[in-house]
Amino acid sequence: MGTDVRDRLGRPLRDLRISVTDRCNFRCPYCMPRELFGPDHAFLPRSELLSYDEITRVVAAFASLGVTKVRLTGGEPLLRRDLAVLVGLVAATPGVADIALTTNGSLLAAQADALRAAGLRRVTVSLDSLDPDVFQQMADTRISLQAVLDGITAAREVGLGPVKLNTVLRRGVNDDGLLDLVEYARESGHLLRVIEYMDVGSTNGWLPDQVVPAAEVLARVAAVHPLEPVGRASPGDVAETYRFLDGRGELGLITSVTKPFCTDCTRARLTAVGELYTCLFAASGHDLRAVLRGGADDEQLREAVSGRWRARDDRYSELRGRLPAGGPKAEMSFLGG
Ligand code: GTP
Ligand code: 5AD
Ligand code: SF4
Ligand code: SF4
Repeated sequence: MGTDVRDRLGRPLRDLRISVTDRCNFRCPYCMPRELFGPDHAFLPRSELLSYDEITRVVAAFASLGVTKVRLTGGEPLLRRDLAVLVGLVAATPGVADIALTTNGSLLAAQADALRAAGLRRVTVSLDSLDPDVFQQMADTRISLQAVLDGITAAREVGLGPVKLNTVLRRGVNDDGLLDLVEYARESGHLLRVIEYMDVGSTNGWLPDQVVPAAEVLARVAAVHPLEPVGRASPGDVAETYRFLDGRGELGLITSVTKPFCTDCTRARLTAVGELYTCLFAASGHDLRAVLRGGADDEQLREAVSGRWRARDDRYSELRGRLPAGGPKAEMSFLGG
């Protein structure tokens, strides 16, 4: 591991989440509502994006400061051309012990094999419903549920499983499908993680009454399949894990709204244009692309990163509700979920 750099609340830097594109082939209303991300929306031109070589330099700088886990995300990361090439470069970076991908799954069946061969070891797929119509409504897409299920199956077949399945529940939209998702995960041997709907960004019109609290999720699942808590797999993890008493798998709960986990948050985020964000809810980031393209050497890049991390005092989720409704926050499709 590299030098241990701590933020103002004593938290080390361990995880780097990299958004490789701001584009997506879905329009989940909680993330990229079609009214705002319609045909006229200006996505980033390719020249604005960090190149794979630039991303790799940034990853090396983070790894030298303690990062061991790297996650590629988006937008939809599989829309970025030759993503497997980047996977290979990141996997080969000294200090990176774990590389994962968060995807909507729709393009995974075609790419799973190449990603695995390049060094990817695990994948997380967003799956909000097993009802074909509700699925298309939640994602506001014509792409079929089956394409995503095929992606999940392909991931398992090439050795990228068990897959983590991320479900965002919205009350009155998909929450009545919770138990179907639980059965699917138990039967297929994947790990279902239910995420509380968050007030990320400024465009999704988030309202607290659409959040299904994790305690309610737990009670609804436990009424059918009793569970016991097993805590977090490691302290900085976002999910609390519960084990089914019948031995058939586990359930993860991500309580970002009702029980924030900022105290142990060791995550940094890099946007597709190379801005460093130290919180999912930050209003702005630090322009590492300018540092890179300005001709900085590796040491200067490292200092730019460590300086930002040392100054960090973010804990938005813990302060939520106590903060005045602020100005615009960065969108998740841009920042990386
Ligand atoms: P692993 O534990 O390594 O599998 O990764 P992960 O759980 O961080 O990855 P994933 O992308 O699946 O994260 C799950 C979801 O948790 C994200 O999509 C977000 O909705 C939420 N989440 C992740 N990181 C944060 C965070 O730092 N803050 C908050 N509030 N929510 C987060
Ligand atoms: N609240 C909670 N989770 C969200 N995601 C996207 N937007 C939100 C939100 N507002 C989730 C996606 C995906 C991951 C990248 O982030 O469903 O699983
Ligand atoms: Fe795309 Fe994921 Fe956002 Fe849905 S949540 S619009 S799949 S980036
Ligand atoms: Fe980390 Fe910010 Fe999420 Fe808290 S709200 S867990 S500080 S990213």
